[in-house]
Amino acid sequence: MVISLNLNPSVPKLPRIENKQAVDVRYMLIPPYAGAHISWNAETNELVYDLEEPVLQDKEKDALKRIENALFELININITVENTPEATIAYLDKTSRLLISELNIAISEESYQKLFYYLYRDFVGMNEIEALLKDYFIEDIECNGIGSPLYVIHRVYRNIRTNVVFHDLDKLAGFVEKLAQRAGRYISYAQPLLDGSLPDGSRVNASYTKDVTSKGPTFTIRKFTKIPWTPTQLLSFNSISPEMLAYFWLLIEHKSSILVAGGTGSGKTTLLNALAFFIPPEARVVSIEDTREINLPRENWLPSVARPSVGSSKVGEIDLFALLKASFRQTPDYLIVGEVRGKEAFVLFQGMASGHASLSTMHADSVDTLIKRLETPPIELSPSLVNTLDCVAVATHAVINQKETRKLKEIVEIVNVNGDGTAIVNTPFIWDPAQDKFFFRKQSKVLEKISTRTGIPLATLQNELVIRSKLLYHLYQKKIFGFEEIGKIVNLYHKDPAAVLAQYPVDA
Ligand SMILES: Nc1ncnc2c1ncn2[C@@H]1O[C@H](COP(=O)(O)OP(=O)(O)OP(=O)(O)O)[C@@H](O)[C@H]1O
Ligand SMILES: [Mg+2]
Repeated sequence: MVISLNLNPSVPKLPRIENKQAVDVRYMLIPPYAGAHISWNAETNELVYDLEEPVLQDKEKDALKRIENALFELININITVENTPEATIAYLDKTSRLLISELNIAISEESYQKLFYYLYRDFVGMNEIEALLKDYFIEDIECNGIGSPLYVIHRVYRNIRTNVVFHDLDKLAGFVEKLAQRAGRYISYAQPLLDGSLPDGSRVNASYTKDVTSKGPTFTIRKFTKIPWTPTQLLSFNSISPEMLAYFWLLIEHKSSILVAGGTGSGKTTLLNALAFFIPPEARVVSIEDTREINLPRENWLPSVARPSVGSSKVGEIDLFALLKASFRQTPDYLIVGEVRGKEAFVLFQGMASGHASLSTMHADSVDTLIKRLETPPIELSPSLVNTLDCVAVATHAVINQKETRKLKEIVEIVNVNGDGTAIVNTPFIWDPAQDKFFFRKQSKVLEKISTRTGIPLATLQNELVIRSKLLYHLYQKKIFGFEEIGKIVNLYHKDPAAVLAQYPVDA
Protein backbone atom coordinates (compact mmCIF):
# COMPACT_ATOMS: atom_id res chain seq x y z
CA MET A 1 0.00 0.00 0.00
CA VAL A 2 1.25 3.45 -0.79
CA ILE A 3 0.80 6.42 1.45
CA SER A 4 -2.18 8.45 0.31
CA LEU A 5 -1.08 11.90 1.52
CA ASN A 6 -1.33 14.52 -1.19
CA LEU A 7 1.20 17.26 -0.53
CA ASN A 8 0.46 19.31 -3.63
CA PRO A 9 -3.29 19.79 -3.78
CA SER A 10 -4.72 22.31 -6.20
CA VAL A 11 -5.69 25.73 -4.90
CA PRO A 12 -9.45 26.05 -4.48
CA LYS A 13 -11.43 29.08 -5.62
CA LEU A 14 -12.87 30.72 -2.53
CA PRO A 15 -15.96 32.88 -2.62
CA ARG A 16 -15.46 36.49 -1.61
CA ILE A 17 -18.29 37.08 0.79
CA GLU A 18 -19.24 40.58 1.84
CA ASN A 19 -21.33 39.40 4.74
CA LYS A 20 -18.89 37.68 7.05
CA GLN A 21 -21.70 36.01 8.96
CA ALA A 22 -22.51 34.02 5.83
CA VAL A 23 -19.02 32.57 5.46
CA ASP A 24 -18.95 28.80 5.69
CA VAL A 25 -16.24 27.23 3.53
CA ARG A 26 -14.23 24.06 3.67
CA TYR A 27 -11.17 23.10 1.65
CA MET A 28 -8.49 20.47 1.89
CA LEU A 29 -4.94 21.31 2.99
CA ILE A 30 -3.33 17.88 3.02
CA PRO A 31 -5.85 15.62 1.26
CA PRO A 32 -7.45 13.42 2.30
CA TYR A 33 -6.66 14.01 5.97
CA ALA A 34 -6.34 17.68 6.90
CA GLY A 35 -8.61 20.51 5.89
CA ALA A 36 -9.73 24.00 6.83
CA HIS A 37 -13.22 24.98 7.86
CA ILE A 38 -13.82 28.72 8.02
CA SER A 39 -17.11 29.87 9.43
CA TRP A 40 -18.83 32.51 11.50
CA ASN A 41 -19.01 31.91 15.21
CA ALA A 42 -22.17 33.56 16.49
CA GLU A 43 -21.14 33.26 20.13
CA THR A 44 -17.86 35.11 19.83
CA ASN A 45 -18.98 37.21 16.87
CA GLU A 46 -16.01 36.46 14.68
CA LEU A 47 -14.77 34.27 11.88
CA VAL A 48 -13.01 31.13 13.05
CA TYR A 49 -10.61 28.85 11.26
CA ASP A 50 -10.96 25.23 12.32
CA LEU A 51 -8.13 22.98 11.33
CA GLU A 52 -9.72 19.58 10.82
CA GLU A 53 -7.45 16.59 11.29
CA PRO A 54 -8.26 12.89 11.54
CA VAL A 55 -9.81 11.81 14.83
CA LEU A 56 -8.06 8.76 16.22
CA GLN A 57 -9.72 6.01 18.24
CA ASP A 58 -8.07 5.10 21.55
CA LYS A 59 -6.54 2.03 20.00
CA GLU A 60 -5.08 4.10 17.16
CA LYS A 61 -3.77 6.71 19.60
CA ASP A 62 -2.05 4.01 21.52
CA ALA A 63 -0.49 2.59 18.36
CA LEU A 64 0.67 6.06 17.31
CA LYS A 65 2.33 6.65 20.69
CA ARG A 66 4.21 3.35 20.50
CA ILE A 67 5.40 3.95 16.94
CA GLU A 68 6.44 7.50 17.80
CA ASN A 69 8.45 6.42 20.82
CA ALA A 70 10.22 3.76 18.80
CA LEU A 71 10.87 6.22 15.98
CA PHE A 72 12.36 8.79 18.35
CA GLU A 73 14.96 6.22 19.30
CA LEU A 74 15.72 5.45 15.67
CA ILE A 75 15.55 8.63 13.74
CA ASN A 76 17.84 11.54 13.71
CA ILE A 77 15.29 14.24 13.08
CA ASN A 78 17.80 16.03 10.86
CA ILE A 79 17.36 13.58 8.05
CA THR A 80 14.01 15.15 7.39
CA VAL A 81 15.61 18.42 6.41
CA GLU A 82 18.26 16.99 4.14
CA ASN A 83 16.07 14.85 1.86
CA THR A 84 13.09 15.58 -0.32
CA PRO A 85 9.75 15.21 1.48
CA GLU A 86 8.89 12.29 -0.82
CA ALA A 87 12.06 10.40 0.07
CA THR A 88 11.58 11.10 3.76
CA ILE A 89 7.96 9.98 3.64
CA ALA A 90 8.95 6.74 1.92
CA TYR A 91 11.62 6.15 4.53
CA LEU A 92 9.26 6.97 7.40
CA ASP A 93 6.62 4.66 5.95
CA LYS A 94 9.03 1.76 5.56
CA THR A 95 10.43 2.20 9.05
CA SER A 96 6.99 2.54 10.65
CA ARG A 97 5.69 -0.61 8.99
CA LEU A 98 8.75 -2.48 10.20
CA LEU A 99 8.18 -1.23 13.73
CA ILE A 100 4.53 -2.24 13.61
CA SER A 101 5.47 -5.76 12.78
CA GLU A 102 8.34 -5.85 15.29
CA LEU A 103 6.22 -4.42 18.11
CA ASN A 104 3.33 -6.65 17.14
CA ILE A 105 0.87 -3.80 16.79
CA ALA A 106 -2.44 -4.97 15.39
CA ILE A 107 -3.76 -2.25 13.12
CA SER A 108 -5.77 -2.07 9.89
CA GLU A 109 -4.38 -0.41 6.77
CA GLU A 110 -7.04 2.28 7.02
CA SER A 111 -6.07 3.13 10.58
CA TYR A 112 -2.42 3.12 9.63
CA GLN A 113 -2.98 5.65 6.85
CA LYS A 114 -4.79 7.96 9.29
CA LEU A 115 -2.12 7.59 11.86
CA PHE A 116 0.60 8.13 9.30
CA TYR A 117 -0.73 11.62 8.79
CA TYR A 118 0.44 12.41 12.32
CA LEU A 119 3.79 10.70 11.81
CA TYR A 120 4.33 12.79 8.69
CA ARG A 121 3.12 15.95 10.41
CA ASP A 122 5.42 15.62 13.41
CA PHE A 123 8.53 13.99 11.93
CA VAL A 124 8.67 15.48 8.44
CA GLY A 125 6.47 18.55 8.83
CA MET A 126 6.13 21.34 11.33
CA ASN A 127 3.81 19.60 13.80
CA GLU A 128 0.58 21.41 14.74
CA ILE A 129 1.07 24.10 12.11
CA GLU A 130 2.11 21.89 9.19
CA ALA A 131 -1.32 22.05 7.57
CA LEU A 132 -1.50 25.82 8.12
CA LEU A 133 1.83 26.22 6.37
CA LYS A 134 0.38 24.26 3.47
CA ASP A 135 -2.62 26.59 3.22
CA TYR A 136 -2.04 28.69 0.11
CA PHE A 137 -4.29 31.42 1.48
CA ILE A 138 -2.49 31.96 4.77
CA GLU A 139 -0.02 34.85 4.83
CA ASP A 140 0.89 35.01 8.50
CA ILE A 141 0.66 32.64 11.45
CA GLU A 142 0.95 34.10 14.91
CA CYS A 143 1.25 32.45 18.33
CA ASN A 144 1.19 34.64 21.41
CA GLY A 145 2.08 32.00 23.97
CA ILE A 146 0.60 29.01 25.77
CA GLY A 147 -3.13 28.78 26.07
CA SER A 148 -3.81 31.40 23.41
CA PRO A 149 -5.18 30.36 20.05
CA LEU A 150 -3.05 30.85 16.95
CA TYR A 151 -4.19 33.61 14.63
CA VAL A 152 -3.76 33.55 10.89
CA ILE A 153 -4.00 36.21 8.22
CA HIS A 154 -5.99 34.81 5.35
CA ARG A 155 -5.80 36.25 1.84
CA VAL A 156 -9.56 36.25 1.46
CA TYR A 157 -11.03 36.45 4.96
CA ARG A 158 -8.16 38.34 6.65
CA ASN A 159 -7.50 38.05 10.36
CA ILE A 160 -8.96 34.84 11.85
CA ARG A 161 -8.65 32.97 15.12
CA THR A 162 -7.84 29.28 14.74
CA ASN A 163 -8.63 26.28 16.90
CA VAL A 164 -4.92 25.48 17.18
CA VAL A 165 -3.62 26.10 20.72
CA PHE A 166 -0.40 25.10 22.46
CA HIS A 167 -1.44 24.14 25.99
CA ASP A 168 1.85 22.87 27.22
CA LEU A 169 4.91 25.04 27.86
CA ASP A 170 7.46 22.33 27.10
CA LYS A 171 5.73 21.47 23.88
CA LEU A 172 5.65 25.10 22.74
CA ALA A 173 9.29 25.60 23.76
CA GLY A 174 10.17 22.42 21.86
CA PHE A 175 8.31 23.70 18.85
CA VAL A 176 10.16 27.02 18.89
CA GLU A 177 13.43 25.09 19.12
CA LYS A 178 12.35 23.14 16.07
CA LEU A 179 11.62 26.38 14.21
CA ALA A 180 15.11 27.62 15.10
CA GLN A 181 16.67 24.36 14.00
CA ARG A 182 14.85 24.43 10.67
CA ALA A 183 15.96 28.02 10.19
CA GLY A 184 19.54 26.96 10.87
CA ARG A 185 19.69 29.23 13.88
CA TYR A 186 20.18 28.84 17.56
CA ILE A 187 17.77 29.84 20.30
CA SER A 188 18.20 29.56 24.05
CA TYR A 189 17.32 31.37 27.23
CA ALA A 190 20.57 33.30 26.89
CA GLN A 191 19.75 34.17 23.27
CA PRO A 192 15.99 34.25 23.33
CA LEU A 193 15.22 35.94 20.00
CA LEU A 194 15.05 34.28 16.61
CA ASP A 195 14.86 36.02 13.25
CA GLY A 196 15.39 33.73 10.31
CA SER A 197 13.89 31.87 7.38
CA LEU A 198 12.53 28.38 7.06
CA PRO A 199 13.70 26.17 4.19
CA ASP A 200 10.65 27.15 2.12
CA GLY A 201 11.65 30.80 2.46
CA SER A 202 9.02 31.73 5.06
CA ARG A 203 10.25 34.31 7.50
CA VAL A 204 10.14 33.40 11.17
CA ASN A 205 10.42 35.47 14.32
CA ALA A 206 10.28 33.83 17.73
CA SER A 207 10.96 34.54 21.38
CA TYR A 208 11.97 31.93 23.88
CA THR A 209 11.09 32.62 27.47
CA LYS A 210 9.81 30.82 30.48
CA ASP A 211 9.21 33.98 32.38
CA VAL A 212 6.37 33.43 34.86
CA THR A 213 4.72 36.68 33.95
CA SER A 214 4.70 35.98 30.23
CA LYS A 215 2.75 33.31 28.45
CA GLY A 216 5.91 31.56 27.34
CA PRO A 217 7.50 31.37 23.91
CA THR A 218 5.87 33.16 20.98
CA PHE A 219 6.37 32.99 17.23
CA THR A 220 5.25 34.65 14.02
CA ILE A 221 5.66 33.14 10.60
CA ARG A 222 5.27 35.25 7.48
CA LYS A 223 4.94 32.85 4.64
CA PHE A 224 7.21 33.36 1.69
CA THR A 225 5.04 34.12 -1.29
CA LYS A 226 7.30 32.31 -3.70
CA ILE A 227 5.75 34.24 -6.50
CA PRO A 228 5.80 37.92 -5.62
CA TRP A 229 3.11 40.34 -6.64
CA THR A 230 3.72 42.04 -9.94
CA PRO A 231 3.14 45.73 -10.71
CA THR A 232 -0.18 44.92 -12.40
CA GLN A 233 -1.31 42.93 -9.37
CA LEU A 234 -0.70 45.97 -7.18
CA LEU A 235 -2.88 47.90 -9.65
CA SER A 236 -5.61 45.32 -9.22
CA PHE A 237 -5.52 45.89 -5.45
CA ASN A 238 -5.77 49.62 -6.11
CA SER A 239 -2.63 50.07 -4.00
CA ILE A 240 -0.89 52.29 -6.53
CA SER A 241 -1.77 54.17 -9.73
CA PRO A 242 -0.52 53.36 -13.24
CA GLU A 243 1.15 56.81 -13.38
CA MET A 244 3.05 56.12 -10.18
CA LEU A 245 4.27 52.80 -11.57
CA ALA A 246 5.25 54.37 -14.88
CA TYR A 247 7.11 57.07 -12.98
CA PHE A 248 9.11 54.44 -11.05
CA TRP A 249 9.72 52.56 -14.28
CA LEU A 250 11.35 55.63 -15.82
CA LEU A 251 13.31 56.49 -12.69
CA ILE A 252 14.63 52.99 -12.28
CA GLU A 253 15.58 52.73 -15.94
CA HIS A 254 17.61 55.90 -15.50
CA LYS A 255 19.36 54.59 -12.42
CA SER A 256 17.70 56.70 -9.76
CA SER A 257 17.75 55.76 -6.09
CA ILE A 258 14.49 55.01 -4.35
CA LEU A 259 13.60 54.26 -0.74
CA VAL A 260 10.26 52.76 0.22
CA ALA A 261 9.22 53.98 3.66
CA GLY A 262 6.30 52.92 5.85
CA GLY A 263 5.25 51.30 9.11
CA THR A 264 5.35 47.61 10.03
CA GLY A 265 3.53 45.45 7.51
CA SER A 266 2.59 48.42 5.33
CA GLY A 267 3.68 46.59 2.19
CA LYS A 268 7.19 48.04 1.76
CA THR A 269 8.90 44.83 0.77
CA THR A 270 6.05 43.86 -1.54
CA LEU A 271 6.30 47.20 -3.34
CA LEU A 272 10.09 47.01 -3.49
CA ASN A 273 9.84 43.62 -5.17
CA ALA A 274 7.26 44.87 -7.67
CA LEU A 275 9.43 47.90 -8.53
CA ALA A 276 12.43 45.66 -9.11
CA PHE A 277 10.61 44.26 -12.17
CA PHE A 278 11.50 47.54 -13.86
CA ILE A 279 15.26 47.04 -13.64
CA PRO A 280 16.57 46.70 -17.22
CA PRO A 281 17.16 43.07 -18.19
CA GLU A 282 20.88 43.29 -18.90
CA ALA A 283 21.74 45.17 -15.71
CA ARG A 284 23.63 43.40 -12.98
CA VAL A 285 21.61 43.24 -9.78
CA VAL A 286 22.81 42.42 -6.30
CA SER A 287 20.30 42.02 -3.50
CA ILE A 288 21.11 41.95 0.18
CA GLU A 289 18.70 40.94 2.91
CA ASP A 290 18.53 39.81 6.50
CA THR A 291 15.99 37.19 5.61
CA ARG A 292 15.13 36.04 2.16
CA GLU A 293 12.04 37.84 0.83
CA ILE A 294 12.89 39.25 -2.58
CA ASN A 295 12.30 37.24 -5.72
CA LEU A 296 12.89 38.46 -9.27
CA PRO A 297 12.17 37.07 -12.73
CA ARG A 298 15.69 37.60 -14.04
CA GLU A 299 18.95 35.80 -14.55
CA ASN A 300 21.48 38.51 -13.96
CA TRP A 301 20.88 38.59 -10.23
CA LEU A 302 22.98 37.73 -7.21
CA PRO A 303 20.89 37.34 -4.05
CA SER A 304 22.61 37.20 -0.69
CA VAL A 305 21.39 36.87 2.87
CA ALA A 306 23.11 38.06 6.04
CA ARG A 307 24.11 35.34 8.44
CA PRO A 308 24.16 35.88 12.19
CA SER A 309 26.71 34.11 14.34
CA VAL A 310 25.95 30.87 16.14
CA GLY A 311 26.03 31.05 19.93
CA SER A 312 27.34 34.12 21.69
CA SER A 313 30.60 34.52 19.78
CA LYS A 314 30.78 36.71 16.70
CA VAL A 315 32.38 33.90 14.70
CA GLY A 316 30.71 33.25 11.38
CA GLU A 317 28.66 36.39 11.44
CA ILE A 318 28.20 38.22 8.16
CA ASP A 319 26.12 41.31 8.68
CA LEU A 320 24.49 43.60 6.15
CA PHE A 321 27.36 46.05 6.47
CA ALA A 322 29.95 43.42 5.51
CA LEU A 323 27.77 42.04 2.73
CA LEU A 324 27.15 45.44 1.27
CA LYS A 325 30.82 46.34 1.27
CA ALA A 326 31.62 43.04 -0.42
CA SER A 327 28.84 43.54 -2.96
CA PHE A 328 30.55 46.53 -4.54
CA ARG A 329 33.31 44.21 -5.64
CA GLN A 330 30.68 42.45 -7.72
CA THR A 331 30.21 45.76 -9.59
CA PRO A 332 26.45 45.82 -9.55
CA ASP A 333 24.46 48.30 -11.61
CA TYR A 334 21.60 48.01 -9.14
CA LEU A 335 21.68 47.29 -5.46
CA ILE A 336 18.62 46.09 -3.61
CA VAL A 337 18.82 46.20 0.16
CA GLY A 338 15.84 44.53 1.84
CA GLU A 339 15.70 46.91 4.77
CA VAL A 340 18.06 49.63 5.92
CA ARG A 341 18.38 49.90 9.70
CA GLY A 342 21.88 50.78 10.82
CA LYS A 343 25.39 51.48 9.73
CA GLU A 344 24.92 49.68 6.40
CA ALA A 345 23.03 52.80 5.29
CA PHE A 346 26.36 54.59 5.08
CA VAL A 347 27.76 52.05 2.63
CA LEU A 348 24.54 52.12 0.61
CA PHE A 349 24.48 55.92 0.30
CA GLN A 350 28.17 56.03 -0.57
CA GLY A 351 27.41 53.54 -3.31
CA MET A 352 24.59 55.76 -4.52
CA ALA A 353 26.90 58.76 -4.50
CA SER A 354 29.31 56.87 -6.74
CA GLY A 355 26.64 56.09 -9.31
CA HIS A 356 25.06 52.79 -8.27
CA ALA A 357 21.30 52.81 -8.47
CA SER A 358 19.60 51.49 -5.39
CA LEU A 359 16.25 50.27 -4.17
CA SER A 360 15.59 49.74 -0.51
CA THR A 361 13.05 49.99 2.31
CA MET A 362 13.19 51.67 5.66
CA HIS A 363 10.88 51.72 8.63
CA ALA A 364 9.52 55.29 8.93
CA ASP A 365 6.01 56.72 8.72
CA SER A 366 6.91 59.87 6.84
CA VAL A 367 9.67 61.49 4.84
CA ASP A 368 10.49 63.80 7.75
CA THR A 369 10.97 60.89 10.11
CA LEU A 370 12.97 59.07 7.49
CA ILE A 371 15.37 61.95 6.91
CA LYS A 372 15.76 62.43 10.64
CA ARG A 373 16.55 58.77 11.08
CA LEU A 374 19.15 58.94 8.31
CA GLU A 375 20.83 61.95 9.86
CA THR A 376 20.92 60.96 13.52
CA PRO A 377 22.75 58.09 15.26
CA PRO A 378 23.23 55.23 14.69
CA ILE A 379 23.10 56.02 10.96
CA GLU A 380 24.32 59.64 10.99
CA LEU A 381 24.68 60.43 7.31
CA SER A 382 25.94 63.82 6.20
CA PRO A 383 23.38 66.06 4.46
CA SER A 384 25.28 65.71 1.19
CA LEU A 385 24.97 61.92 1.31
CA VAL A 386 21.24 62.09 2.05
CA ASN A 387 21.02 64.35 -0.98
CA THR A 388 21.96 61.46 -3.28
CA LEU A 389 18.56 59.92 -2.63
CA ASP A 390 16.14 60.73 -5.46
CA CYS A 391 12.81 59.87 -3.97
CA VAL A 392 10.88 58.24 -1.18
CA ALA A 393 7.68 56.22 -1.63
CA VAL A 394 5.56 56.17 1.51
CA ALA A 395 3.48 53.00 1.94
CA THR A 396 0.65 52.80 4.43
CA HIS A 397 -2.15 50.64 5.83
CA ALA A 398 -5.60 51.99 5.20
CA VAL A 399 -9.09 50.82 5.92
CA ILE A 400 -11.38 51.53 2.95
CA ASN A 401 -15.03 50.50 3.16
CA GLN A 402 -14.17 48.49 6.25
CA LYS A 403 -11.58 46.62 4.24
CA GLU A 404 -7.94 46.45 5.15
CA THR A 405 -5.85 47.71 2.22
CA ARG A 406 -2.34 48.94 1.46
CA LYS A 407 -1.81 52.25 -0.30
CA LEU A 408 1.11 54.12 -1.70
CA LYS A 409 0.33 57.33 0.16
CA GLU A 410 2.75 59.64 -1.60
CA ILE A 411 5.90 59.88 -3.63
CA VAL A 412 8.22 62.54 -2.30
CA GLU A 413 11.25 63.74 -4.24
CA ILE A 414 14.30 64.97 -2.41
CA VAL A 415 15.13 68.19 -4.26
CA ASN A 416 17.92 69.33 -2.03
CA VAL A 417 19.22 68.70 1.47
CA ASN A 418 20.64 71.82 3.05
CA GLY A 419 23.84 71.96 5.06
CA ASP A 420 21.80 72.00 8.29
CA GLY A 421 20.12 68.75 7.30
CA THR A 422 16.72 70.19 6.40
CA ALA A 423 15.33 68.98 3.08
CA ILE A 424 13.52 70.71 0.27
CA VAL A 425 11.08 68.25 -1.19
CA ASN A 426 8.61 67.98 -4.05
CA THR A 427 5.59 65.72 -3.94
CA PRO A 428 4.41 64.83 -7.47
CA PHE A 429 2.05 62.01 -6.45
CA ILE A 430 -0.41 61.67 -3.61
CA TRP A 431 -3.26 59.41 -2.60
CA ASP A 432 -6.33 61.19 -1.27
CA PRO A 433 -7.98 59.07 1.43
CA ALA A 434 -11.30 60.96 1.28
CA GLN A 435 -11.88 59.99 -2.35
CA ASP A 436 -9.63 56.93 -2.34
CA LYS A 437 -7.97 58.29 -5.48
CA PHE A 438 -4.42 58.85 -6.64
CA PHE A 439 -3.37 62.22 -8.04
CA PHE A 440 -0.46 63.32 -10.19
CA ARG A 441 -0.48 66.90 -9.10
CA LYS A 442 2.96 68.35 -9.69
CA GLN A 443 5.73 68.11 -12.23
CA SER A 444 8.52 65.82 -11.23
CA LYS A 445 11.86 67.36 -10.41
CA VAL A 446 13.61 64.03 -10.73
CA LEU A 447 12.49 63.73 -14.37
CA GLU A 448 13.97 67.19 -14.94
CA LYS A 449 17.19 66.01 -13.36
CA ILE A 450 17.22 62.93 -15.60
CA SER A 451 16.59 65.12 -18.63
CA THR A 452 19.52 67.39 -17.75
CA ARG A 453 21.80 64.45 -17.09
CA THR A 454 20.93 62.39 -20.15
CA GLY A 455 20.01 65.05 -22.67
CA ILE A 456 16.65 63.39 -23.30
CA PRO A 457 14.13 66.23 -23.70
CA LEU A 458 11.80 66.53 -20.72
CA ALA A 459 8.78 66.34 -23.05
CA THR A 460 9.99 62.95 -24.30
CA LEU A 461 10.25 61.64 -20.75
CA GLN A 462 6.81 63.01 -19.90
CA ASN A 463 5.35 61.44 -22.99
CA GLU A 464 7.01 58.15 -22.13
CA LEU A 465 5.41 58.35 -18.68
CA VAL A 466 1.98 58.65 -20.27
CA ILE A 467 2.56 55.77 -22.68
CA ARG A 468 3.90 53.46 -20.00
CA SER A 469 1.10 54.22 -17.59
CA LYS A 470 -1.42 53.45 -20.33
CA LEU A 471 0.43 50.27 -21.17
CA LEU A 472 0.39 49.14 -17.52
CA TYR A 473 -3.29 49.96 -17.26
CA HIS A 474 -3.96 48.03 -20.45
CA LEU A 475 -2.08 45.00 -19.11
CA TYR A 476 -4.07 45.20 -15.90
CA GLN A 477 -7.36 45.35 -17.83
CA LYS A 478 -6.29 42.32 -19.82
CA LYS A 479 -5.60 40.60 -16.48
CA ILE A 480 -1.96 40.03 -17.27
CA PHE A 481 -0.61 39.51 -13.78
CA GLY A 482 1.88 36.65 -14.08
CA PHE A 483 5.39 36.89 -12.69
CA GLU A 484 7.09 35.55 -15.83
CA GLU A 485 4.69 37.27 -18.20
CA ILE A 486 5.13 40.75 -16.76
CA GLY A 487 8.87 40.15 -16.53
CA LYS A 488 8.98 39.32 -20.24
CA ILE A 489 6.89 42.29 -21.34
CA VAL A 490 8.93 44.78 -19.32
CA ASN A 491 12.16 43.31 -20.65
CA LEU A 492 10.96 43.37 -24.23
CA TYR A 493 9.79 46.95 -23.82
CA HIS A 494 13.31 47.87 -22.85
CA LYS A 495 14.73 46.48 -26.10
CA ASP A 496 11.85 47.04 -28.48
CA PRO A 497 9.01 49.24 -27.19
CA ALA A 498 7.31 49.28 -30.60
CA ALA A 499 6.93 45.49 -30.53
CA VAL A 500 5.21 45.64 -27.15
CA LEU A 501 2.96 48.51 -28.20
CA ALA A 502 2.04 46.63 -31.38
CA GLN A 503 0.86 43.75 -29.26
CA TYR A 504 -0.77 45.91 -26.58
CA PRO A 505 -1.83 49.08 -28.37
CA VAL A 506 -2.44 52.22 -26.36
CA ASP A 507 -3.57 55.54 -27.79
CA ALA A 508 -0.83 58.10 -27.36
N1 LIG B 1 -0.71 46.12 -1.84
C1 LIG B 1 -1.06 45.17 -0.97
N2 LIG B 1 -2.34 44.76 -0.88
C2 LIG B 1 -2.70 43.81 0.00
N3 LIG B 1 -1.85 43.18 0.83
C3 LIG B 1 -0.56 43.53 0.79
C4 LIG B 1 -0.09 44.54 -0.11
N4 LIG B 1 1.22 44.69 0.06
C5 LIG B 1 1.57 43.81 1.03
N5 LIG B 1 0.52 43.12 1.46
C6 LIG B 1 0.53 42.07 2.51
O1 LIG B 1 0.89 42.69 3.74
C7 LIG B 1 1.81 41.92 4.47
C8 LIG B 1 3.05 42.72 4.75
O2 LIG B 1 3.68 43.05 3.52
P1 LIG B 1 5.22 43.41 3.44
O3 LIG B 1 6.05 42.30 3.99
O4 LIG B 1 5.48 43.84 2.05
O5 LIG B 1 5.25 44.65 4.43
P2 LIG B 1 6.51 45.38 5.09
O6 LIG B 1 6.12 46.81 5.25
O7 LIG B 1 7.74 45.09 4.30
O8 LIG B 1 6.55 44.65 6.49
P3 LIG B 1 7.76 44.68 7.57
O9 LIG B 1 7.59 45.94 8.34
O10 LIG B 1 7.46 43.47 8.41
O11 LIG B 1 9.05 44.59 6.81
C9 LIG B 1 2.06 40.68 3.63
O12 LIG B 1 1.28 39.64 4.15
C10 LIG B 1 1.62 41.06 2.24
O13 LIG B 1 1.14 39.94 1.54
MG1 LIG C 1 9.59 44.33 4.89
